[in-house]
Amino acid sequence: MTKKVISIFNNKGGVGKTNIIWNLGIALADKAKKVLFIDFDPQCNLSIAVIGYEEFEKCLENDENFPFGKTIRSYIQPYIQSLENTQVFSEKPKYKPKNNNKNKSLFWDNIDIIPGDFWLNRFADYLNVGSDVNGGNGIHRFLVLESLIKKIEKERNVNYDYVLIDLAPSFNTLVRLALYCSDYFLVPCTADLFSAYCVGLIGEVLPSFIDDWIQGKSKYLKLNPYDKLVSNKGKPKFGGWIFNGFDTKVKKGAINKIAADKAQFNKVIASVENNLLPKLKSDIEDYECVPNFVPREPVAEIEDLNTIASDSIVQNIPIQYLSKEKPTREIQNGSWSQGQKRLMSSMSEQYNSLAEYIINNF
Ligand SMILES: Nc1ncnc2c1ncn2[C@@H]1O[C@H](COP(=O)(O)OP(=O)(O)OP(=O)(O)O)[C@@H](O)[C@H]1O
Ligand SMILES: [Mg+2]
Repeated sequence: MTKKVISIFNNKGGVGKTNIIWNLGIALADKAKKVLFIDFDPQCNLSIAVIGYEEFEKCLENDENFPFGKTIRSYIQPYIQSLENTQVFSEKPKYKPKNNNKNKSLFWDNIDIIPGDFWLNRFADYLNVGSDVNGGNGIHRFLVLESLIKKIEKERNVNYDYVLIDLAPSFNTLVRLALYCSDYFLVPCTADLFSAYCVGLIGEVLPSFIDDWIQGKSKYLKLNPYDKLVSNKGKPKFGGWIFNGFDTKVKKGAINKIAADKAQFNKVIASVENNLLPKLKSDIEDYECVPNFVPREPVAEIEDLNTIASDSIVQNIPIQYLSKEKPTREIQNGSWSQGQKRLMSSMSEQYNSLAEYIINNF
C-alpha cells in the first residue's frame, strides 16, 4: 500500500479540524494502520491535545544541543537555511489504554506525532509564492513536508500508511504548502451561516494555487528535467466534507438534526454541489481533482459533543476511549451519563466509518 498524505483543511476557523484529525487518526491506527500526525498549525492545538501541554512545553525548550527544540522547527529551519543538521523528533500520545487482550487497542503503538511550533508563523513569512512557486526557484521549499516524511521513515525504518496534517484556518503559505504535499484533503464544516460560503471559496482559491504550481513546475522542470518529485506533487484531491457539531432531537424513536441545523446542512450540500465541485472539476485541468467516489453528501457526520469534546482535550483522551475513564471534575462531576456514553459510542462509529471510507477509497 502506498502512503497517503491527507490535509484536514478549511479556511474557516473552529470547524473541528483538530478534533477530527485526532479521532480519525486513532480510528485508522486501531485498524492496524501506521499513522503520522503533523501539526502544521502555529496554534499547536493538535500537539496539546495528543501529547498534553506539559510534554509539549518540553518540546519547545531549546539549548545548545537542541537549538530548534524538538518540534517540527528542528527539521524545517535547517532545511530552509540549507544547513546539514536537520533533525526529526516525534512524540507518542499521552493516553495509553490499559491493555486488555479482548479488545486490544493498537493506536498507541501505531501513532507518532511531529509537534507543532509557534515559530511556524515566522516560517510562513519566509515563504514567498511569487519567487518560490511561480518563479520555480524555491519550489522545493514548498515540499519540505514531503522531505520530512521521507527522513523520518528512513531514520526509523517505518512506512506510514497515513500522514494526517493539521492546519490553521487560512489560505496562507503554510496551508498552500501542505496542500501541495498532500494526496487528499478533507473539509470539515459546521452548522452556521458562513460554512456554505467558505466551502464555495475553496472552489475559487484552490485552482489558483494549482495554477501557480503548474507555472513554477514548468520553469523548474526545464532546468531539472529528471526531477520526479516536483512532477508528482501539487495534485491534492478533494476527499469529501464532514458535517461537525450539529444538534439532534429524537422524534418517534428516530434521531434527526434540529431544523436550524438541517437548513444549514442543506446549504452546505448545495454549495458543495453548485460551487465547489464544478469549480474543482472545470478549473483544474492538470489532474482529476474530484475522484468519482466522492459524494456531494458528507463523508462523516459528527454531532455536537458538548462537554465531551472539551473533556477529551483536557484529559488527552480520544472520544473512543473517554467513556472508560472518569470525566474531569471541573467539567463534569462524577461519571458520564448513559446518554453521553451512547453519544461517544455512536460518534466513535462515525470516525470508524470515516476511516473505512479512507482505507477503501484513497
Ligand atoms: N463535534 C463537536 N462537538 C462539540 N464541540 C466540538 C466539536 N468539534 C469541535 N468542538 C470544539 O470546538 C472547538 C473548535 O474545535 P477544533 O479546535 O477541533 O476546530 P478547528 O477547526 O481545528 O479550529 P482552528 O480553526 O482554530 O484550528 C474546540 O473547543 C472543540 O473542543
Ligand atoms: Mg485546529
